[in-house]
Amino acid sequence: MRFTDTMTIQELSTYIALAIVLQVAAYGAFFLLQKRRDYLQLGPPQAIDANSALSQDRPSASGGAWSGYREFRVQRKEYEDRSRSVCSFYLVPVDGQALPPFKPGQFLTFRLAPHAGAEARPIVRCYSLSHAPDSECYRVSIKRIGPPPDKPGAPTGVSSNFFHDQVEVGSVLAVKAPAGHFHLLDGDHSPLVLIGGGIGITPMLSMLETSLVLTPEREVWLSYGVRNGAEHVMKSRLRDLAQRHPNFHLHVCYSRPGSDDVPDADFQHAGHVDIGLLRQTLTLRPYQVYVCGPRQMMESLVPALADWGIDPERIHYEAFGPSTVPKPAKAAQPSRAPTAAAADSPKVRFANSAKERQWDPRAESLLAFAEDLGLSVPSGCRAGSCGSCQTTIVSGEIETTKEPDFDIGPGCCLLCISRPKSDLVLSA
Ligand SMILES: Cc1cc2nc3c(=O)[nH]c(=O)nc-3n(C[C@H](O)[C@H](O)[C@H](O)COP(=O)(O)OP(=O)(O)OC[C@H]3O[C@@H](n4cnc5c(N)ncnc54)[C@H](O)[C@@H]3O)c2cc1C
Ligand code: FES
Repeated sequence: MRFTDTMTIQELSTYIALAIVLQVAAYGAFFLLQKRRDYLQLGPPQAIDANSALSQDRPSASGGAWSGYREFRVQRKEYEDRSRSVCSFYLVPVDGQALPPFKPGQFLTFRLAPHAGAEARPIVRCYSLSHAPDSECYRVSIKRIGPPPDKPGAPTGVSSNFFHDQVEVGSVLAVKAPAGHFHLLDGDHSPLVLIGGGIGITPMLSMLETSLVLTPEREVWLSYGVRNGAEHVMKSRLRDLAQRHPNFHLHVCYSRPGSDDVPDADFQHAGHVDIGLLRQTLTLRPYQVYVCGPRQMMESLVPALADWGIDPERIHYEAFGPSTVPKPAKAAQPSRAPTAAAADSPKVRFANSAKERQWDPRAESLLAFAEDLGLSVPSGCRAGSCGSCQTTIVSGEIETTKEPDFDIGPGCCLLCISRPKSDLVLSA
C-alpha cells in the first residue's frame, strides 16, 4: 500500500511535470507561429529603401517603374525664396498608377516643347528630386536662369524660364523615371556631410530629409552657400529641421549678404563654402561627403577635400553646369593652329555631316568639338545625364571623362562626356 502510494505520488509528479512541459511547449509553439505570421505579413526583407520606409501606410510604389517618357500633371507650384527665383513643382502621374521609389539625390529628365510651331525642336533637361521619396508625387525645384553676367544681351535659359512662366498647375509634362548615380548609399550610416552651392542645394534637400526620417541618429552637416537672404531657399524649413533634430548641424554661408541679413540669425558665415571653412566646422572623420554646386566650387572643393584626408571613394559630387552654357566664343582663346600634340592626335569624322578634323586636345568633349566644327548636335545637360547627345560610333574608340547617368545604347557614345582614343568615325 505504501509502495503503491509512493508510486502514485511519483506518477502524479511525473504527470504534473509532463503537463507543465507540454503547456510551455504549446505556448512556445503558439508564440513562434504568431511571430512567423507577423514576419510573413511584413513581406520580403528589403535593403534600405526610403520609399518603403516613408510610406508604410501607403500602397506599395514598386509597381510603378516605367521606361521612356510618362505624363505627369503639375499638382502644385510654390516659390521657395523671397526673390521668387526658385520654384518647386509637385508632379503626379496622369495615369494614376504608383510611383517607383527613387534614391535621394537622383534626378528626373524632362522633354519640353517651349517653342510653338511644327519646326520647333523639343529640348531635354534634368532636374533633381528635392524631397524625401514619396509614393504619391515627385517634386523638383527649379531656378530661373538669366543671361551670363558677361553677356547681358544673351537669351535667357530656355527650360527654366519656360517652367517659371508657362508651366502652371494642371500642365502636363513628359518625364523619364528617376535616374543618376549621385545618391545616398544604401545601408551606410557614416556621418554625412552635405555641401550645396546655389541651386545645388536641391539633391541635398532630398538626402537631408530622408536621412532625418530614416536614420535620425545619424549625424548630418549641411553647408549651404547662397548669395544672400533673398535667394535663401526653404529658409524656415531648414531652420525648423535644425531646431528639431539635435544631430543635424546647419551652416549657411552668404557670399554677398544683404543689408537686412542678420549674422548668426540668417547666416553663420559671410563668404563662400570653402575648404578652410569646412576644416573649421568639422573634425576629420570617415564621412560620406556629397557636393553639388557651381563648377568653380566643385573644381576647388573636391580635390581640397581629398587633400585634407577624406577618402576620395567617400567624396561624391555632381555638377549642374556650366555644362548647359553654350561653348564660349573662341576669340579670347589661344590660336587654333594645330600644336605638335594636335598633329599627332586622332582624326574625327562626322559621317552624316561630312565633316572631319584632327582632334583638338584642348576641346572639352566631342560635343564641344562638333559644335566648334559648326554641327548642330542635340544636347541637354552636357553632363552625361540626359542622353540627348547619344551618337553611334561607326568605327574607332572613345574614352569617357565621367561615369554616365544615362544607359548608353550598344555601339553608341555620349558626345558630351567622350573624347577620341583612336581615329574615330561618328554617325552625326
Ligand atoms: C543632373 C542634373 C540635375 C539638375 N538639377 C537641377 C535642379 O534641381 N534645379 C535647377 O534649377 N537646375 C538643375 N539642373 C540644371 C538644369 O538641367 C538646366 O541646365 C538649367 O535649368 C538651365 O537650363 P535652361 O534651359 O534654363 O538654360 P539654357 O537655355 O540651357 O541656357 C543656359 C545658359 O546659357 C545662356 N545662353 C543661352 N543662349 C546663349 C547664347 N547664344 N550666348 C550666350 N549665352 C547663352 C543662358 O542665358 C543661360 O545662362 C540640373 C542639371 C543636371 C545635369
Ligand atoms: S547632353 Fe545630356 S547626355 Fe550629353
